[in-house]
Amino acid sequence: MDKNLTEITDLTRAEFERLLELSAQLKSELKKKPRLDNAEGKVAALIFEKPSLRTRVTFEVAMRQLGGSAIYLGPSDIGLGTRESVPDVARNLARWVDCIIARVFEHEKITGLAGNASVPVVNALSDAAHPCQALADILTVKDHRGKLDGAIIAWVGDGNNVCNSLMYSCALLGLELRVATPRGFEPAKEVTDRATAMAQESGAKLAFGNDPAAAVRGAEFVYTDVWASMGQEDQAAHKARMFRPFQVNAELMEQAGPDAKVLHCLPAHRGEEITAEVIDGPRSIVLDQAENRLHAQRALLATLLGRR
Ligand code: CP
Ligand code: NVA
Repeated sequence: MDKNLTEITDLTRAEFERLLELSAQLKSELKKKPRLDNAEGKVAALIFEKPSLRTRVTFEVAMRQLGGSAIYLGPSDIGLGTRESVPDVARNLARWVDCIIARVFEHEKITGLAGNASVPVVNALSDAAHPCQALADILTVKDHRGKLDGAIIAWVGDGNNVCNSLMYSCALLGLELRVATPRGFEPAKEVTDRATAMAQESGAKLAFGNDPAAAVRGAEFVYTDVWASMGQEDQAAHKARMFRPFQVNAELMEQAGPDAKVLHCLPAHRGEEITAEVIDGPRSIVLDQAENRLHAQRALLATLLGRR
């Protein structure tokens, strides 16, 4: 595969499917073989401009389990693009470490790192994309239905970074995704255009609208995320009013398929985008999703750094 994972569009369908297979294999072998040597002696730099629980911990655990290690660089450490330019940070880090994993505001910082580092660069979330989340999401869908063919997923809420990477994933793999957002909060046009073109090739079905009930009708998975993403805190009150009809609650779930499962990338705001009853209820598979971050990223790092 490409040296970097900046967005799902860096992958071919075969590469995505191979990552899913390897994730499943490593997951099934984890108890027997927790320590692997795919990244023996290798070091990853983890640049985080924003907070994180899942992404940071799963990357650090994954590096250790693959025989390597990670150095965490937090929001006040390096001043990416302020204290030092993005290309200079990339070129310096590439002299010392084997991989750069970065969570940033502007997506251009990810592409800037990728374009200037001779080592792999992985997007650990940017304002535009969250491809590692999407790998885990699709793995979770596959785990729960046994196969991907025919999967129907509804996205309810903000047309944000997580939505973009999920959309590209469904478009690449030939799945059905219905996106329901409030007017004015649709995913960016260049993303929907590109995903729609990909869907024509794969046979995926993508639908965009503003009606949550229509989107979830017959869906097997209902996915939501916070209404105000990290960096949008000042828009939270305004968005809360606009997004109220898009809350994933028991009433909305009644419209979905009888066995429909609930997805959320976490962290969640109970009482806003999702009710406690739904996220803590029997249809919720959000912890399987969170667990799968580890398995998907072990497979990703083993592929980028190792001998898989
Ligand atoms: N889903 C996710 O990326 O969680 P964190 O922000 O805690 O890493
Ligand atoms: N859309 C959210 C995802 C957090 C994992 C954000 O960017 O804050």
